[in-house]
Amino acid sequence: MSFDRSVKIAPSILSADFANFGAEIEAIEDQGADWVHVDVMDGHFVPNLTFGPPAVAAFRKHVKTVMDVHLMIAPVDPYIDAFSQAGADILTAHVEAGPHIHRTLQAIRGAGMKAGVALNPGTPAEAVTDLLDLTDLICVMTVNPGFGGQKFIDMTTKVKKLRAMIGDRPIHIEIDGGVDPTTAPQLVQAGADVLVAGSAVFRGGSVSQPEVYGQNIRAIREAAQGVYV
Ligand code: DX5
Ligand code: ZN
Repeated sequence: MSFDRSVKIAPSILSADFANFGAEIEAIEDQGADWVHVDVMDGHFVPNLTFGPPAVAAFRKHVKTVMDVHLMIAPVDPYIDAFSQAGADILTAHVEAGPHIHRTLQAIRGAGMKAGVALNPGTPAEAVTDLLDLTDLICVMTVNPGFGGQKFIDMTTKVKKLRAMIGDRPIHIEIDGGVDPTTAPQLVQAGADVLVAGSAVFRGGSVSQPEVYGQNIRAIREAAQGVYV
């Protein structure tokens, strides 16, 4: 995985057809997705349950781009090796998930993955000040995590602060929650480069109408790049 700051669209398969993940992943990649975002929830750190390492390993067989795994679980450390075995390229843990995020990020890199750190809307940018040299991606939550399709919470000021803190380091800023063509531009302008989108990508499409996914992905990308069509 090489590093660049171009806009990347990462559809969240939380909004896909749960009976048809393989075909859904192939459809979004054919239609221009840059990364595939996988939301792992434990019913404890967040009030919802999704999938664990065996399901993620099954998704891996269909992902040709980058598998970006967002853990909304606590604790994290006992599961790091399992997600590495499952084929995650990037593994993101929440700073709020436990007292030892520093050790968690070291362990993620130690297991051969890129290490991401996520911040809930109520957590300030400063929470990652002492983690920058251990981090490949900072995920700024623009909803309280747990569900797709929630209302966007504006975190533009936090993104600007993080962008300044990062300086020349090769760290992605990812936005997760309520991203669509209306919310994306201000975030990219503030310094974000990875846009996770669930409902705004899958809305109106299906594996038999995958071109809708393509239109939705292009609409977000073009808005984010300042090209209004
Ligand atoms: C929220 C998840 C998100 C979510 C985004 O807990 O981390 O990735 O699926 O969904 P939308 O784009 O529908 O807000
Ligand atoms: Zn997510």
